[in-house]
Amino acid sequence: MMKLKKLVRNLVQIPSMRKICSLAAGEGVQKEKTDCVVIGAGVVGIAVARELSLNHGRNVLVIESASTFGTGSSSRNSEVIHGGIYYPPNSLKARFCVRGRRLLYEYCKEHGIPHKQIGKLIVACGHEEVPKLNYLLNRGIENGVEGLKMMEGSEAMSMEPELQCVRALWSPTSGIIDSHSLMLSLMGEAETHGTTFSYNSTVTGAHLEENQINLHISDTKSVKNFDFSSQGYPDITLLPKLVVNAAGLTSTALARRFNGINLGVIPPSYYARGCYFSLSNITVSPFKHLIYPIPEDGGLGVHVTLDLDGNVKFGPDVEWLNDIDDVSTLQNKFDYTVCADRAKKFYPAIRRYYPSLKDASLQPGYAGIRPKLSGPRDGFYDFLIQGEEFHGIPRLVNLFGIESPGLTSSMAIAEYVATKFS
Ligand SMILES: Cc1cc2nc3c(=O)[nH]c(=O)nc-3n(C[C@H](O)[C@H](O)[C@H](O)COP(=O)(O)OP(=O)(O)OC[C@H]3O[C@@H](n4cnc5c(N)ncnc54)[C@H](O)[C@@H]3O)c2cc1C
Ligand SMILES: *[C@@H]1O[C@H](CO)[C@@H](O)[C@H](O)[C@H]1NC(C)=O
Ligand SMILES: *[C@@H]1O[C@H](CO)[C@@H](O)[C@H](O)[C@H]1NC(C)=O
Repeated sequence: MMKLKKLVRNLVQIPSMRKICSLAAGEGVQKEKTDCVVIGAGVVGIAVARELSLNHGRNVLVIESASTFGTGSSSRNSEVIHGGIYYPPNSLKARFCVRGRRLLYEYCKEHGIPHKQIGKLIVACGHEEVPKLNYLLNRGIENGVEGLKMMEGSEAMSMEPELQCVRALWSPTSGIIDSHSLMLSLMGEAETHGTTFSYNSTVTGAHLEENQINLHISDTKSVKNFDFSSQGYPDITLLPKLVVNAAGLTSTALARRFNGINLGVIPPSYYARGCYFSLSNITVSPFKHLIYPIPEDGGLGVHVTLDLDGNVKFGPDVEWLNDIDDVSTLQNKFDYTVCADRAKKFYPAIRRYYPSLKDASLQPGYAGIRPKLSGPRDGFYDFLIQGEEFHGIPRLVNLFGIESPGLTSSMAIAEYVATKFS
């Protein structure tokens, strides 16, 4: 009972919540009517909540299992604003990346979010890689990426004296951003326009009653002991008009717990960890621009990323995680340890384009995990956004596979979801 009381206090006793929730008649578990519920306070969930409340006049409740916002992939990435080069033309990744980038730069300027449009060089280190670079150039042009330019190695190397390459593709619209400041700013706007954030609250599943989605919420502390083999007993049930599942790594596993959903359309979950190593003992960064090799399977290759404080990091690599089941995903048990051993593979990969990288100069940094919809050799997979027409549950929107370029795309995803489903 204490747990229930506390959660209800979290959810309902907040003054702004009174107009969102009105107690529904019902026995047993307490039921609350709400307007919109967004599951997950990562950059995408936050952007969706802001868009729904600011531009569509909706009341939004964001349910976040962690004790604060942005603790998932949104704080474990390269913080790069991508141009939009890599993705197949007309894919959601291509469209949202290009549109999201433009929205993001505009937003950063208007709201004073720290960012820098430093540009990026994608480099071919051997002549055998040049065709791949040409392919990327054409793809980028098709995707509407502005200002792309092919350079001779000598031209790129005069821009970056530490660099070694035979050719390079220059992307002037790529940049870096302080994603924490971005999330704070988006949240501030969302909150002043009718969004409430509820932390330490986990969505454990859902069911349908007379075509109304019943969303099960429990205090995160009790989720450790939650019986995921059955529907379990939630602390509270919400009856929302719209649900946006933006639970990042958990979104597919969670969707499988929505009773009545067409399970056949929920894609399998794959997870690929990416580790970063930072360059130690430097006084001046060896690079002024982002440097990327030719992309590899599952990721963009171990690249050079600069942050706004002038730190240099390399990564992320790709490490497929095979032992993650839905229950540990729902309990948010992800291992973000950076194994120092992995540096061994970083040195030769980095030295292909940065030959003077010194021995022992790489220090373990942090890791993130990509929510993949395809396995190691399955090739490209797009963002997947599913409404009722796919899965059969009215007014539920699932966001699946929101890996890179999800940060860049966040405001475009929000615009799309709010326009299409609100
Ligand atoms: C290694 C790496 C590098 C990347 N680099 C870049 C880059 O340079 N540029 C770029 O544009 N993109 C990049 N990305 C992608 C980008 O970081 C993500 O696409 C973006 O952060 C996804 O945001 P999100 O809100 O969907 O997910 P998340 O940030 O993971 O947020 C999901 C939230 O849902 C919460 N949650 C989960 N389950 C539940 C539940 N049952 N109930 C309630 N809450 C729940 C979680 O606690 C979490 O806070 C990278 C990603 C990775 C992993
Ligand atoms: C969430 O839980 C953490 C740790 O259990 C606690 O410190 C924090 O105060 C809680 N936050 C809220 C908003 O209840
Ligand atoms: C970096 O500095 C630390 C201490 O400041 C030192 O122990 C380490 O050997 C240095 N590494 C390199 C590669 O110079």
